[in-house]
Order: sequence, then structure tokens, then C-alpha cells
Amino acid sequence: MRARHLPHNGYDLSSAPRWRLPEIRLRLLHHFGGFPPAEQTTAHLIQPKGSQSQVVVADGRSGLAGVALLRERLWDSHHFGFRVGSLDILESFAKSYRKDREIKSLLLQHMKVRFGHFRYITCRVLAKDLAGANALEEASFEYLAGMTTLAAECSRAHAELPAQIDIQPFRRGQLKDLVSMASKSFTEDRFHRDPGLPKSKSDRLHGEWIKNCCVNGLADVVLVCHSNGGLLGFIACRLEHPVNQPKAGEIVLLGVSPAARGKGIGGALVRGALNWFRGKAATVLVRTEVTNYASLRTYQKENFRVVSSSNYFRRWI
Ligand SMILES: CC(C)(COP(=O)(O)OP(=O)(O)OC[C@H]1O[C@@H](n2cnc3c(N)ncnc32)[C@H](O)[C@@H]1OP(=O)(O)O)[C@@H](O)C(=O)NCCC(=O)NCCS
Repeated sequence: MRARHLPHNGYDLSSAPRWRLPEIRLRLLHHFGGFPPAEQTTAHLIQPKGSQSQVVVADGRSGLAGVALLRERLWDSHHFGFRVGSLDILESFAKSYRKDREIKSLLLQHMKVRFGHFRYITCRVLAKDLAGANALEEASFEYLAGMTTLAAECSRAHAELPAQIDIQPFRRGQLKDLVSMASKSFTEDRFHRDPGLPKSKSDRLHGEWIKNCCVNGLADVVLVCHSNGGLLGFIACRLEHPVNQPKAGEIVLLGVSPAARGKGIGGALVRGALNWFRGKAATVLVRTEVTNYASLRTYQKENFRVVSSSNYFRRWI
């Protein structure tokens, strides 16, 4: 069973615009057992029973006008030593920019009373969501990082791997090396980008993350590339089960040891992942920072295409 405290956005809706709004409705209905009656014309805060999440619902004359959902990222809070929140949903059903902005500002105003529970809050909105970005800035959130989501179809054809590169599912004895490599591999992520977060903790975060992928069920498989000299790289893969949608694959983490980069290992790991997903998912998604050119190049060379862009905002309290 997947642990709930792992650093994954369970409402990862922005990367899947096709099902985003119906998914929000379904997930919220499922999670909280229904919306309050829609006769009010303002927003109000709900503390759903048995849930740590805070929800603000905006009701318009014709029904639900917008939703915001704030939850604690327990794993991140534990890791950084202060409470980390995530505005997982900031959505309105408005058609015009003016109304969209008005509703999102209203949602944030009502959510504000809960911000004080946290030291650090993040929110990722689609890059085209100008109203969301502007409402967040008005609520003292600041831009942190741009993200790109890429997708590839899992074709029936088995992707060939270079003969000299051996890719296998990880074995428990490799865990220590994997954690050590992951702790040294990442520099372009949103944690390292934030000057307010200690670098040592951001380094360690990726080590913990790959450990959760290997032994705590955050990924369905971790493939590693190794030679006689040791571990060269890894890729963590997970199957998503969106409501009423076919299964989708997700690449959670990809890393190649700094000394082994530029030799095709990253690309081979991506091909190995596509082979693993073949027959299990029709599409594979991955999200990476817009400034991570090596990563973008690696995925694009393996036929991944950009499907959406989003921006992280964060607020220190
Ligand atoms: C992304 C990463 C896995 C690529 O691994 P790799 O083994 O070097 O990948 P490959 O050798 O298969 O290909 C890398 C491609 O990126 C290109 N590249 C490398 N650095 C680049 C840069 N700074 N700008 C643009 N392209 C770059 C290489 O030239 C190569 O493309 P080419 O074959 O057309 O020349 C590796 O750089 C890495 O581990 N980065 C840190 C972890 C990370 O950011 N992971 C991705 C997010 S989960």
C-alpha cells in the first residue's frame, strides 16, 4: 500500500488537463462526501471530518464556482523541521479572466486564516493560469520555479538498449549506493532553487525520496544501470490510477552519476522505463524543471513531447 505521507502530490491534476475539472469534482465528492448546498454566493472554509485538509468552496448562483484545497505535506514537514503546506487545488470554473481572478482571490482570502499553521506553503498552477498566478502574488506568494510536463506513448515496439548498458530492477543491496548517488545528483529542482531552504537538506531529500521509491512503495519499480565499477544511474516508475481514466505511467525520478553523464545512460534508462510501462499504461508522463536542459533533452530524444507547463509559487510565513 502506498504511504500517504510520501512527497507526492496526490491531487496532481495540473499535469492532466483533460480530466482536471471532472477529476477535482470526483475526488472532492469522494473524499469529503459531497459539497455544501450552493445557495450562498460567497466562499467558505470547510474542515472535512477526519481529514487534515482545509477546503474553501466558492458558490455562485449557478452552483460551484471554485475550490481551493490546502493540506500539510507531512513528509516535507518532517524532513525540513517546519510545517510545509501545499495548496493542491486552486481552481475556478469561471470563463473570463476577471471572474477567474476574482474567485481565486476570494478563495485565497478565505484560506488565509489557515496559512498561519505553516511556515512554508507551495502552490503549482498551470503556466496559462494567469488569474491563479496573479491571485497568488496578491496573497504574498512568490514565483519559485517553472515546470514542464512531457508525455510519451508506450508503443508496442520494444525499445532497443545499447549493448554495453545493463539495466535491471534494483536489488536491496544497492540501496545505500542509490541513496548516496541521489543525494549528490540533483541541483535544478525547486528545493535547491529556493535560497531559503538549506542545501544540505535539499540534497538529502532526494536520497530519502529514492529510498521511498525503493522500499516504501512510492514507485512500482526502480530500474538501475550498473557496470563493474558500480552504480551509474537509476529511474523510478509508478503507475497512476486516475478516476475514470486509463492507467498512466509516471517517471518519478531519473538520475545519472555526474561522472557518467553524456554517454547515453540517461536515454537508455528512459527507454528501459518505457519498456517496463509497455502493456501497463498507454501514456507515460514526467515533470521536470524548465531550466533542466539536460533532462529536457534526454526525454525529448526519447520521443517525449511537451504537453503542459506550470509554475511553482511559494510563501514563507
Ligand atoms: C538528466 C540526466 C539524467 C541525463 O543523463 P545522461 O546520461 O547525461 O543523458 P544522455 O547522455 O542520455 O543524454 C543527455 C543529453 O542531454 C544533453 N545535455 C547535457 N547537459 C546539457 C545542458 N546543460 N544543456 C543542454 N543539453 C544538455 C546532452 O548533450 C545529451 O544530448 P545529445 O545526445 O543530443 O548531445 C542527468 O543529467 C542527471 O542525472 N541530471 C541530474 C538529475 C536530474 O536532473 N534528473 C532529471 C529530473 S528527475
